[in-house]
Amino acid sequence: MDVFSIGSYRFWFGLILRVRLILNQRPDIRAPVMEVTLNNDAFVTPGYIFIAPYETELPGPYIYDSGGNLVWSGADGSTSELFHDLQVCPYEGFDHLCYFQGNQIEGYARGRSIILNNDYEQVATVQSGDGLTLSDMHELNIIDDTLILIAIYQPRPYDLQAYGGPAVNGWAMDGVFQEINITTGEVLFQWGSLEHVPLSDTYTPLGLNPVVGDGTSNATAWDYFHLNSIDKNDDGDYLVSSRHTSCIYKISGQDGSIQWRLGGKNSSIQLLDYNFSAQHDARFLEENDTVTIISLFDNASNGLLSTSQGNLQLLSNQHAFIGWGAHPAVSEHTSDGTPVFFATLTDPQSMNYRAFRFNWTGEPTDDPALRTYAAAPGSATTFWVSWNGDTEAASWMFYGTTSDSDQFMLLAKADRQGFQTTYTSTNYHPQAYAEALSSDGTALRNSSVVNTTSSPPSVD
Ligand SMILES: *[C@@H]1O[C@H](CO)[C@@H](O)[C@H](O)[C@H]1NC(C)=O
Ligand SMILES: *[C@@H]1O[C@H](CO)[C@@H](O)[C@H](O)[C@H]1NC(C)=O
Ligand SMILES: *[C@@H]1O[C@H](CO)[C@@H](O)[C@H](O)[C@H]1NC(C)=O
Ligand SMILES: *[C@@H]1O[C@H](CO)[C@@H](O)[C@H](O)[C@H]1NC(C)=O
Ligand SMILES: *[C@@H]1O[C@H](CO)[C@@H](O)[C@H](O)[C@H]1NC(C)=O
Ligand SMILES: *[C@@H]1O[C@H](CO)[C@@H](O)[C@H](O)[C@H]1NC(C)=O
Ligand SMILES: *[C@@H]1O[C@H](CO)[C@@H](O)[C@H](O)[C@H]1NC(C)=O
Ligand SMILES: *[C@@H]1O[C@H](CO)[C@@H](O)[C@H](O)[C@H]1NC(C)=O
Ligand SMILES: *[C@@H]1O[C@H](CO)[C@@H](O)[C@H](O)[C@H]1NC(C)=O
Repeated sequence: MDVFSIGSYRFWFGLILRVRLILNQRPDIRAPVMEVTLNNDAFVTPGYIFIAPYETELPGPYIYDSGGNLVWSGADGSTSELFHDLQVCPYEGFDHLCYFQGNQIEGYARGRSIILNNDYEQVATVQSGDGLTLSDMHELNIIDDTLILIAIYQPRPYDLQAYGGPAVNGWAMDGVFQEINITTGEVLFQWGSLEHVPLSDTYTPLGLNPVVGDGTSNATAWDYFHLNSIDKNDDGDYLVSSRHTSCIYKISGQDGSIQWRLGGKNSSIQLLDYNFSAQHDARFLEENDTVTIISLFDNASNGLLSTSQGNLQLLSNQHAFIGWGAHPAVSEHTSDGTPVFFATLTDPQSMNYRAFRFNWTGEPTDDPALRTYAAAPGSATTFWVSWNGDTEAASWMFYGTTSDSDQFMLLAKADRQGFQTTYTSTNYHPQAYAEALSSDGTALRNSSVVNTTSSPPSVD
């Protein structure tokens, strides 16, 4: 069975304890709660966790720290579209954030790739070119600082008689990828599976299930290939992973011909003492004239088994960071496989296509959000402050007026407690603001001045 059929997966993964953060100053943020069960500080690679869960209360792109604290929510609840593949990508010389956003259609999607700068402002969007249907979410791979590799699930009329389907009005799904200039949208290279890989190479028979399709319409085109990753090497050749042929293809950047097939029904390379199937996320790691080293996420591997999705990111220290796909879990392992980090979303039915660890500096244009509450004039005042997307604030200064004076006084300084920092003053402060400080004490930004309310804080 495959992926992304909304509502069809339910997992046993723990109980629902808390499925959202309770944020008194940002009720719009309803991020999944991440529970960290292994965090071996001495070995865990510094950096944040990038995920885009769905089948959860508010699907969206989210960043967490290794303590499981939310750092950024990119979901505002204004769309029913889903998000995938949130990652830090090099674009025009700087780290950017990129992700896919679009409509999910069974095992694939139609949408576009979005690039944000480190202020969280959108600087580019990319979608398929040359008249093809909208981009799919299975790949978002920015290369050479200005180019992107994307996947497209393109239905094509096809004679399916030999496979028990219609001869006329039959449809097969072409696994297409394009390399696109992000700035101009120009398609620089395009390849499609139907031209190069016979339908007989698939392991998923026509009509196997609604995700695979029965080939009778463009909406149910037979997804015999299921392209799920694209990479490019220094020679300008490509590596394509197909889940439904359980095969990885090296494709010539000159003419699109297949240079070799690894795995599947007609492997051109002998697999010695290993095999894989329904794999994801094939990447070029190292290459010279005689040896090519690649990585992949093998659905059939030992360990925590995932029925769909999943990825493997090799970090520069040779650690592996793994997203467990249909399980809303991530883990990090040293080069000998020892786990040093494990976290899951507590919403057991959520899923996440790919997960990553990256360093990231976020400097949001939005100001910090503050809410203050006192049961009645004269009562103690509680402050809640957060700054969605900020990675630089290490502490907060809290300022307030008093019943006697409209002058703002410094009340306290508190270390950052996570996404939200809370402070309670025993005195009553009718008005307040908070100021973010960096780790070296530099003042970064103020919240706006707020009036203390006596309406009870939101509880949910
Ligand atoms: C992409 O387009 C921009 C703008 O025309 C151009 O400067 C750049 O060289 C192009 N990049 C490639 C790799 O073609
Ligand atoms: C499928 O066919 C319908 C009806 O002809 C058309 O409106 C739609 O755009 C097609 N979809 C794709 C993805 O080609
Ligand atoms: C296997 O691949 C070779 C090319 O490497 C091709 O000549 C042959 O026909 C293929 N066999 C099948 C059964 O598809
Ligand atoms: C592939 O792996 C499976 C499961 O471990 C095993 O049963 C099978 O024999 C392997 N096939 C080959 C060709 O090694
Ligand atoms: C190619 O890489 C392999 C594996 O890293 C290495 O053993 C081999 O010496 C390299 N060959 C050349 C010609 O550099
Ligand atoms: C992925 O692995 C799981 C566990 O081994 C298995 O149940 C499932 O059938 C596999 N999926 C595919 C498409 O091979
Ligand atoms: C983050 O930066 C630190 C310090 O440069 C480095 O050791 C670490 O590998 C980086 N983390 C990632 C995920 O690249
Ligand atoms: C915050 O506001 C106070 C009072 O107006 C001001 O002195 C301070 O410079 C502000 N901080 C920042 C970072 O703008
Ligand atoms: C705070 O209260 C004052 C006085 O009632 C009002 O003028 C001001 O607009 C309020 N400020 C905010 C941010 O609501």
